[in-house]
Order: sequence, then C-alpha cells, then structure tokens
Amino acid sequence: MSEIAQFRFPTDIRFGAGARLVLSDFAAKYGVTRPLLVTDSGLLRTQAFRLMMAEMDKVWPETYVQFADVHPNPTDQDVENAWTAYSQGDCDGIVGLGGGSALDAARALRLKVAFPDLALTEMPFNELPPLVPMCAIPTTAGTGSEVGRSSVITVEQMGRKVVFGAPPLMAEMAVLDPELTLGLPPDLTAFTGMDAMTHAIEAFVCPVFHPMCDGIALEAIRLVRLYLPAAYSDGTNLEARGFMQVAAAMGAVAFQKDLGVAHSLAHPLSSEFAVQHGLANAIVLPHVVRFNGQADSHLYDRVAVALGCAEPTGDSTSWVADFLSEFNRSIGITQRLRDLNVPREKLPGLAAKAMQDGCHLSNPRRCTEADMLRLYGETW
Ligand SMILES: [Fe+2]
Repeated sequence: MSEIAQFRFPTDIRFGAGARLVLSDFAAKYGVTRPLLVTDSGLLRTQAFRLMMAEMDKVWPETYVQFADVHPNPTDQDVENAWTAYSQGDCDGIVGLGGGSALDAARALRLKVAFPDLALTEMPFNELPPLVPMCAIPTTAGTGSEVGRSSVITVEQMGRKVVFGAPPLMAEMAVLDPELTLGLPPDLTAFTGMDAMTHAIEAFVCPVFHPMCDGIALEAIRLVRLYLPAAYSDGTNLEARGFMQVAAAMGAVAFQKDLGVAHSLAHPLSSEFAVQHGLANAIVLPHVVRFNGQADSHLYDRVAVALGCAEPTGDSTSWVADFLSEFNRSIGITQRLRDLNVPREKLPGLAAKAMQDGCHLSNPRRCTEADMLRLYGETW
C-alpha cells in the first residue's frame, strides 16, 4: 500500500419526501437570485415538473429562467444553447432537474459559464476555478448524476459520447425527493434502477484502491435488490422510491473509482440505436460478469452476498450472472439486443466504438475488440 489515494465525499445531500423545499437553502447559502432551470422537454408534462415549478415560483418569483431543450443523450450543442439562455437571462446559478441527461448538461454548462469562449473539449480540467453554484434534483433513480463529477456529452464533431470530469464539477447541493419519482413508469423505473445496479457492481470490482467506495457499492447493490422490484411493481411505494434514490446516489459515489466494460458496451447502443442507457447496461451486465469471472473466480463473492446469496461457494460468478438475468426478467427487462432492433451485422461497428470508450480501461479483465464483439454476440 505504497501509493497515496485520494478520497472525496463532499456533496451536500438533502433527502426525504418533500426535500425540494430546501431550494430556499440553496438560494440563501450561495446567494443565487436568478438561476437557470435546466431540464428536458419530456419533463414539462410531468407531476415532478409541476411540483418543482411551485417551489421555484416561491423561492425565485419571476426571476428564474427556464431552459428545457436538453436532448435524451445531450450534445455539446445543447450545452451551447443552455449557455445562450444563461447569458441572456443574466443568471447567477443553475438548478438541474431531470434524469442524467439534464443533470449532465447542467453540469457541463458550468464549464461554459467559466470559459464561454472554449469548447467543452478545450476546457482546462486540471485547473478549474470555482464554478457557478448548482443544485441537482434528480427525477429518476439510476444515474446518480446528482452526486457525480462528470458529464457524458455527445460531441457532434467527434460523433461519439465523451466523458468530461473533474471534482469542481460536483453540484454544491443534491436534493433527493422521492415524491419527484412517483410518476416514473415501470419500464423506466426498471431501466434506471439497473443503471444504478451496474454502477455499483462495476465500481466494486474495478481494480482501484478505494475501500470507502467499495463499502458504499455493496450497500447500494443490496438496496437495489431489495427495493427495485417494489418500486417497479408499485410506483407509489414512497419507501421503495426513496431507497432507490439513495441507492442511485450511492452507486454514483462508488463509481468515482471508475466503471467497466458493461458501460463501454452500453454507450454505443445508446448513441447508435437509442437504447435507453440503463436497459443497455442491464442486458450486457450478466455477460460481463461471466467474462470477468473467468479471470478471477472470487471477483464477485461479496457481490453475491450483497445480492442475497447465503453462502457463495466456489462459483459466485455463475450465481451472480444467473441472479442478474432472473432479476432482469422479474422487472420486465428483455434479455436480447435483437428485440431492440439492433441488426446483427452492426455488431462489429458497435464493438469498434465500444473500444474507443474509456470505461473498459478500468475493467478488472483486459477486454479486446474481439472480446467486445463476442459479448455483443452473446447478448444478441
Ligand atoms: Fe450508467
């Protein structure tokens, strides 16, 4: 243990039904008088949006500005457009509301506010100044983007998703209000919940020394196992919704270690075929577990325990992979890429794109393009 490790857990989190009421704390603590609300158009019709508008109107009557044009897989152009709204509105803070896309775009906007003349790819990530204050309010329970320090943005010129990250990008405050997730339909509840599960599992087996993250990852795995089926079958179950929000935030805290090959396989499925991110992860995850477990048969022993295996004996890899397949089935998740209109002949192109994705570099087992293609083939 000769290397010096660096741990950070700084996000100010407010959790509980009605936690959105603390927006006034955010305004007071950071002196925010004209925030830009960053969200996506899909949210405008939801109960979560109406609940938040009521709070925004109370805290910043007639002074906040709304930007609701973030795309499901946000692009650098979305961030440019948000910056235009921010500067025209003479804003002094950011409230990000939505799933990972809106929160990622909101976080990337903070870079533009600091360096309006630079493209996202040109930002000085190693020497960022303090950024404009941001409050992150998730309306799903999966990405954990509210406690993240990176944004996944599609750079149109490069034709792929790029991860921009640095500790100053973490939001000053995260508001986890399960009442904002009550309206999430069962399929999205399942997909986003499996994103959280994938974060926690990939983070746990990622070969980076971070025992604090490891503990958080294992508890997140346990919480998703316990509460995702309940949130899926009864969307009004406030306890299950609340614990899923906590688990999602914990999964994202854990993956400051890094992720693995499941995310590298998932990213091109979303950018090329618009497969929902959590769904893509859910489908590939059992296969990635088997792949990684071939190199280390004990890699998933503690994951198995967190998933409820009474006594992992020898072959926890198969146990975990089988459990995850069955868990997917129990929450209505398809097991096959062919069911999602992904043509088999496109798999080599997807494998090439997956290799360009950085997540697999921290996978516990080295993964070649041929491995990627084989994994895609198994899931097809
Ligand atoms: Fe993810």
